[in-house]
Amino acid sequence: MKKGTFPYDKFQSLQTPFYYYDTQLLDNTLQSIKKETDKHEGYHLHYAVKSNANKKVLRHIMEAGFGADCVSGGEIQTCLDAGFPAEEIVFAGVGKADWEIKLGLTAGIQYFNVESIPELEVINEIAGEMGKVARISFRINPNVGAHTHAHITTGLAENKFGIEMADMEKVIRIAQKMENVEFVGLHFHIGSQILEMDDFVALCNRINELQDKLETLDIPTVKNINVGGGLGIDYQHPNENPIPDFKAYFDTYANHLKLRPGQHLHFELGRAVTGQCGSLITRCLYVKKGTIKQFAIVDAGMTELIRPALYNALHVIENLSSTCDEEKYDIVGPICESSDTFACNYSLPKTQRGDLIAIRSAGAYGEIMASQYNCRKLPGSYTTEDFE
Ligand code: LLP
Repeated sequence: MKKGTFPYDKFQSLQTPFYYYDTQLLDNTLQSIKKETDKHEGYHLHYAVKSNANKKVLRHIMEAGFGADCVSGGEIQTCLDAGFPAEEIVFAGVGKADWEIKLGLTAGIQYFNVESIPELEVINEIAGEMGKVARISFRINPNVGAHTHAHITTGLAENKFGIEMADMEKVIRIAQKMENVEFVGLHFHIGSQILEMDDFVALCNRINELQDKLETLDIPTVKNINVGGGLGIDYQHPNENPIPDFKAYFDTYANHLKLRPGQHLHFELGRAVTGQCGSLITRCLYVKKGTIKQFAIVDAGMTELIRPALYNALHVIENLSSTCDEEKYDIVGPICESSDTFACNYSLPKTQRGDLIAIRSAGAYGEIMASQYNCRKLPGSYTTEDFE
């Protein structure tokens, strides 16, 4: 198996576990996105901060000129601190607290993605009290399925997200009558880790239908269509496929979504931006031979990368220290949970105590979902630049 390239000698003296971000790959990924979005008039990316809010990572994304998609006041503040202009920040989430709405209004964010009528009423009220007008988009649940893990599909009627299509006209009419909100767009998101472009085609078709319907209702064309994120990465081949096929992704929208003249198209990619540039670096503590299997017990656990435990997710694992013949291991962490397992029956070069192990494709939903369960310390992070 081809291995990733890491500053192995520099890693030797570092306390494990830690996250390592290949910022060269991150920059190449950002350039690849820019190259594709620049081809199309009005395409704009708000990076989904929920996938990774590491300061060093955010700086690269901000400097590449992307905006931010936030889902909490904490994320908004993190982005403001990182230097993202407020007018490039959008704010989604089914349960926005009053202080979060106030923070967004004070900062002057681009718009709120509103998920219910009660939320709309509260935003209108708070904006009124503050003497401001809140720009809002409605998150519409398009009832489009996606070929992905059941826990990360969001665009079905059964999911908690968004406003049902049948209620779209009603909510728009309500918003139009409100004094302290300005209706600027429609927002959609069908799920995450989607690799089949047909799923995005289905979303485009649904948006086309909805826009046609709005026209028949004499509702003025909205300024922005926001299609959320969801483009997946190749978890099985991080070395062969480090950069997602952004051309296919953006071309899908260019070919299938009928934007109205002057309309802007907003994207909220997270995983596709940060997923492949990050690895969780851990050290083998013990190799334990059981009667039917052997375990490689490493010093990272579900506390540092919860995806395998939570979604049964596969991450490529590489032993950076060994080139011996391969043996099979269950690669497990030190946490007191059986689900604290990174992979079962996984082939690694013969592994021994002290070997450095890289768990790949951990840049998205890795560090950001870390916890302190078992009173563990949150690990540190390094980037390519730290070793130059
Ligand atoms: N926009 C909205 C409204 C979202 O809910 C999400 C992700 C995104 C954008 C970014 O999606 P992406 O481009 O990263 O697929 N923790 C899970 C993923 C949860 C995704 C939640 N929403 C995982 O580790 O797979």
